[in-house]
Amino acid sequence: MTAQILDGRKIASEIREDLAKKIDIIPGENMPVLAVVLVGENDASKVYVRNKKKAALEVGIGCEVIELNDTIGENALLEIIHELNDNPHVNGVIVQLPLPKHINPLKILSAINPEKDVDGFNPYNAGLLACKEPEAIVSATPKGILKLLQVANIDLVGKHAVIIGRSNIVGRPTAMLLLNNDCTVTIAHSKTTNLSELVKEADIVVAACGCAKLVKKDWIKKGAVVIDVGINRIDGKLCGDVDFDEVCEVASFVTPVPGGVGPMTVAMLLENTYEAACRQREHQHNHKCCCGHCKH
Ligand code: GUN
Repeated sequence: MTAQILDGRKIASEIREDLAKKIDIIPGENMPVLAVVLVGENDASKVYVRNKKKAALEVGIGCEVIELNDTIGENALLEIIHELNDNPHVNGVIVQLPLPKHINPLKILSAINPEKDVDGFNPYNAGLLACKEPEAIVSATPKGILKLLQVANIDLVGKHAVIIGRSNIVGRPTAMLLLNNDCTVTIAHSKTTNLSELVKEADIVVAACGCAKLVKKDWIKKGAVVIDVGINRIDGKLCGDVDFDEVCEVASFVTPVPGGVGPMTVAMLLENTYEAACRQREHQHNHKCCCGHCKH
């Protein structure tokens, strides 16, 4: 068997084209605006933020990057989040992670108005997702993974999904989203025993552990679907958490790195920002807000 490639770059580009059309036809409205808070000098974060800004501008979403010195204190950062929450021209607010060690990410992410939390990292949105509430803003990577599976017409009902990694930004929300779509979900992590045997039982494998080429061919059940969220470098070359060449021989579908989940994450962030802007406009017209943060 040679796996079919789930081409995230192509699907993401179609999603961005659709978004650009929708944004273009909002009559008499301002463009949606995303604010990205970047603290410190992490080179990878700078690249991600640059890519997000470029992609936003291309579809007609305004993007303001707030670059802050890594000596900024927690209270000063909270103050900036509050200002963005109160700014009616800003529809989406994200804080690029990781944050410097002296800042508690939970405190910062919890301060983002849930209606503007387009990364879905505020525990309020994570909780709505866990409760299968449709108004949850779902974080971009899990949403992108689901979209890849849906576009390929992969049936999820009753399928055993094994997720390798329990992070708040990928493993846990992906588990909730697949559970909400009727998968039977197992979350594996660094303390899991017999990981390879567990993965071998999976119909769908999501590798999100940050270990280059960890998942080998003999870990994969014949015909399984393999989603690779890893972004690692070996000798300067990008690779995922899956040994792609090997796994292609046994899987039915596999995502490449680069060109798989990464571009989907950016496209879903843009979609979340557009949808948040639409919802905020609706709420303004109806003078109602559910989040407890808004002053109207
Ligand atoms: N760091 C790694 N991935 C992400 C992401 O999707 N959003 C943010 N804000 N930070 C990240």
